[in-house]
Amino acid sequence: MRIAIGSDHAGYMLKTEIARWLVAQGYEVRDLGTDNAEDSVDYPDFARAVAQAVAAGECDLGIALCGTGIGVSITANKVPGVRAAVCTDTYMARMSRQHNDANVLCLGGRVLGVGLALDIVAAWLAAAFEGGRHARRVAKYELLEAQTSKLKAQKG
Ligand code: RB5
Repeated sequence: MRIAIGSDHAGYMLKTEIARWLVAQGYEVRDLGTDNAEDSVDYPDFARAVAQAVAAGECDLGIALCGTGIGVSITANKVPGVRAAVCTDTYMARMSRQHNDANVLCLGGRVLGVGLALDIVAAWLAAAFEGGRHARRVAKYELLEAQTSKLKAQKG
């Protein structure tokens, strides 16, 4: 499985730990930056790169990090086809896959310790979308996304 990962400076340290763990678990990791914790960069640039890699089918899933996970989640959810979820515990991580079919996991480098973050990533990757009534609900936000895109296109 191919996983895109990206962060700003605030998520960099945790990104490094997660990427190393993913590789050790046998995942194919595409690291889309940033490449250090010192230089202040803009999280939308990296969240967009992760989201687009997933939306384009270049990667199966994505992980995006910033200080809180909030900024990258807001950004990633602007990319059609992306369902990004900020998770601060393993229950949220599992549910975001089982019920919401999340394809981008968003984490806060200033919120989570490495141990909990790795547990969250493991729980997220181990879970699968349950379909059924949840598919009906996911289809409703996919429809809203399509309708909104269409309206925007009509407005020019
Ligand atoms: C950067 O200081 C910080 O604002 C960013 O990492 C993130 O937490 C935004 O949501």
